[in-house]
Amino acid sequence: MARALFQSQSGTQDIFPSEADRRRRLVDIFAEEVTKAGYGQVIPPMFEDVGVFQRLGEASDVVSKELYSFVDQGGRNLSLRPEFTASVCRMFAQHRPLVPWKVWYTGPSFRQERPQKGRYRQFDQIGAEVIGTDDPDVDIELIAICWRFYQQIGLKNVSLVINSLGDFEDRARYLEDLQSYFKANADQLSEQSLKTSEINPLRVLDSKRPADADVIAKAPVLADYLGEPAAMSFERVKLGLTTLGIPFEVAPRLVRGLDYYGRTIFEFAATSLDAAQNAVGGGGRYDGLVEALGGGSQPGVGFALGVDRILLACDAEGVFDAVDSGPQVWVVTTTQGTEALEIVEELQTAGFRAGRSFGGRSMKAQMKAANRSGADIAVIVGESEAESGSVSIRQLRTAPPSGEVSSPSGSASQQTVIERTAMVEKVRSLLS
Ligand code: HAM
Repeated sequence: MARALFQSQSGTQDIFPSEADRRRRLVDIFAEEVTKAGYGQVIPPMFEDVGVFQRLGEASDVVSKELYSFVDQGGRNLSLRPEFTASVCRMFAQHRPLVPWKVWYTGPSFRQERPQKGRYRQFDQIGAEVIGTDDPDVDIELIAICWRFYQQIGLKNVSLVINSLGDFEDRARYLEDLQSYFKANADQLSEQSLKTSEINPLRVLDSKRPADADVIAKAPVLADYLGEPAAMSFERVKLGLTTLGIPFEVAPRLVRGLDYYGRTIFEFAATSLDAAQNAVGGGGRYDGLVEALGGGSQPGVGFALGVDRILLACDAEGVFDAVDSGPQVWVVTTTQGTEALEIVEELQTAGFRAGRSFGGRSMKAQMKAANRSGADIAVIVGESEAESGSVSIRQLRTAPPSGEVSSPSGSASQQTVIERTAMVEKVRSLLS
């Protein structure tokens, strides 16, 4: 039988060392920002009872079309998480921590979307949530964290749009009018949007179908329906962002892809990316979600940023490059003894990235591997060094004039023999 050569699934990515390293650094920077602001990390499970995610809204694509759902061996109806917010609220409802509960998270989410560049079926999010206060200063704090984070990694072309979806009663009045408006203009709407308007007319505003553009442009706007509490909260958010010097635009037709939002919502776009996939983060208030998950009437607000898209935006702007995390030192031995084991251990314990060849290869093959490894220095132990308790040090790359990348050096003349006890100090001084 022919052997199958499996390929990774469409919409998933195989991430190799230097890119994985870049991702980890990105998450580390985010972790530092949120920790400074007093957020603690939570790690919810990757799958939950499907009911947890159904609370995100039956009318949203994320629930109606994109959930990865399955029945396990025990007959339980489960789904891989399409986002973290519902899991964080379920966690809150189950464990009842003290409020305000300020948490952050990182990890993969899963949505059965049509894959393309920047749109994956498994993608990484970083995010934060605050449960237990409706103070709009928290909305400002969260937006400010995102803004600082984008700046920290060097992204310049990021824009922020905000809107208010009002309180439940405001939205109810608005939705009634919006639905009537769509009904009255049914002949000018796409069939799909007409269907969506029956379930949640707000979602129609999110339609990118050209057929709907004209009707949407003339639709009533929520801003005209805001009651006083929601309007005051939104004013405070705008004042806070202005005070902190965070540029924003109010987008009166901005809605989000999930149905749980009320009051402030916001989205960040990387303008260096194609418009279709340039949302690098978004969030807002969800004052009814905790209650829908049995956690009592607790307001919540949060955001999630897409790691994959942020890295694409970094590539487009030429910032936050991968850094070299390959070996600095390569250990070459031809003695059949235990020198390589000992020296690699000694160098790694002293804090250097040290590698070696395996399989008893010839000196020539090992030196070739040393050059290919990208290491700056080779530490060589042949029979004579082993006998005299010394090592030879060879610089594999000539020191570059400042600002230039170092190049391999083939010359053996830069090889020096030193006492083995002086090796760590010598390596340190050569690398510094
Ligand atoms: P979301 O807008 O659905 O919000 O996703 C947040 C971010 O995740 C997006 O802005 C985007 O960068 C990234 N993202 C979403 N789908 C994909 C995909 N298929 N491929 C690559 N990246 C993707 C939420 O998930 C909410 N939970 C945010 C939130 C937290 N609201 C309140 N708290």
